[in-house]
Amino acid sequence: MMYSEKVVDHYENPRNVGGFGKEEAGIGTGLVGAPACGDVMKLQIKVGADGRIEDAKFKTFGCGSAIASSSLATEWVKGKTLDEAASIKNTEIAQHLALPPVKIHCSVLAEDAIKAAIKDYREKTGTAEKAAE
Ligand code: FES
Ligand code: FES
Repeated sequence: MMYSEKVVDHYENPRNVGGFGKEEAGIGTGLVGAPACGDVMKLQIKVGADGRIEDAKFKTFGCGSAIASSSLATEWVKGKTLDEAASIKNTEIAQHLALPPVKIHCSVLAEDAIKAAIKDYREKTGTAEKAAE
């Protein structure tokens, strides 16, 4: 399997690895698994007072592509509103990292993790989806 340079870069220098403490405010946590391979990804967002994601962290127990996808996802969600972050598509992640077809599901995991984190945040805070910003 040949990995693209970007995958190797995110794999060797993953951005935003870790997590936020339970006591911190504005946290949403997404925990998802890939049925195809059993890999697991945890992605957390920290939402600021202005409704934008000010920070994001991840922990991924999975392949290089899953780690790269989650690393990239945490970079991409920062500074975005929840609606903007929710619209990030796995195809964009896969394209950016030049993932081969058998690794597409790794990027799906990242999209699912972002959405799960946003859902968790919205459930915890009782904030509904906004139609438009
Ligand atoms: Fe990291 Fe493009 S490879 S942002
Ligand atoms: Fe399953 Fe990458 S092989 S997440």
